Amino acid sequence: MDVFDRGAGPGLPPLAALAVSCALLTGCQSGPPPPSPIATEMYVHFEAIRDAREAAVMGDLGALRAAAMAVRERGDVAGLPEGAGPRLADLRGRARAIEESQSLEEALRLAPVLVVDCGSCHQASGVDLGQRFARRTIPEGEGIDRHAQRLGWSVNRLWEGLLGPSEPAWSVGVDALPDGRSFGPEVIEAVGDRDRVLMDRDRFDGLTARARSAEDWDQRALVLGEILQVCAGCHIR
Ligand code: HEC
Ligand code: HEC
Repeated sequence: MDVFDRGAGPGLPPLAALAVSCALLTGCQSGPPPPSPIATEMYVHFEAIRDAREAAVMGDLGALRAAAMAVRERGDVAGLPEGAGPRLADLRGRARAIEESQSLEEALRLAPVLVVDCGSCHQASGVDLGQRFARRTIPEGEGIDRHAQRLGWSVNRLWEGLLGPSEPAWSVGVDALPDGRSFGPEVIEAVGDRDRVLMDRDRFDGLTARARSAEDWDQRALVLGEILQVCAGCHIR
């Protein structure tokens, strides 16, 4: 499921689009069956949660609040499994807390918890989204591109881990967390503050270790929230 990396591969088919084009055609006898109403609704959720991730990494509180609002404002999803209703209510409550958060720090702490809310309903509903995430290799490269590709990629996998929930996605995301080369000379030059870059680089040693040893999704969400603080903190410097 590559759609988490914007622009990369078809991955998860654009289900909402599929449903619409099918409705416009007469009959729709050929091609794959239309997605279920839940799946269509979920795809919209999925886009909002992806927007939230991008906003979090860049430290854009306004965009993060807007993405949370998009999650909260979705209509009731018909046909959800038994017992899913309260989980949808939890999700909306969390989204509202992000919309109302008083600081970027608070919103960044809550954003991964929102994704855990998604994941816990999947788990409770017996939906294994983890099966849908493609296996892939950590991108390599040089300079700022390497920084952007590898670190962005890493956070995407961690986010998928919480959403699935998916152990393999989480663990490959941890493997791709920043190493020494992610904060090389080009990043230092772009930031224009060597000490800051080296300090942030060192913070990742501890964060990576905690991300690796965190045992449940709640703990992992907590660590991801702290990782996002470091990403966002430097991007909005
Ligand atoms: C109340 C329970 C519940 C919550 C909360 C929930 N989901 Fe789902 N999700 C489901 C169920 C059930 C399915 C399986 C739907 C199907 O296959 O028809 C699903 C499937 C999905 C799918 C796969 C759709 C497909 O292609 O089959 C995606 C993507 C998804 N959810 C994203 C999310 C995101 C993102 C959130 C949080 C913003 C979220 N979900 C919150 C119950 C939930
Ligand atoms: C010490 C500073 C610093 C830290 C920490 C940092 N970045 Fe960056 N990042 C940069 C710089 C510099 C750029 C180049 C653009 C700019 O100046 O903001 C950049 C760009 C990016 C881009 C490309 C953005 C775009 O618009 O093309 C992505 C993606 C990215 N970083 C991801 C991350 C992630 C994910 C983290 C946290 C795991 C992170 N960065 C942590 C300094 C940092």
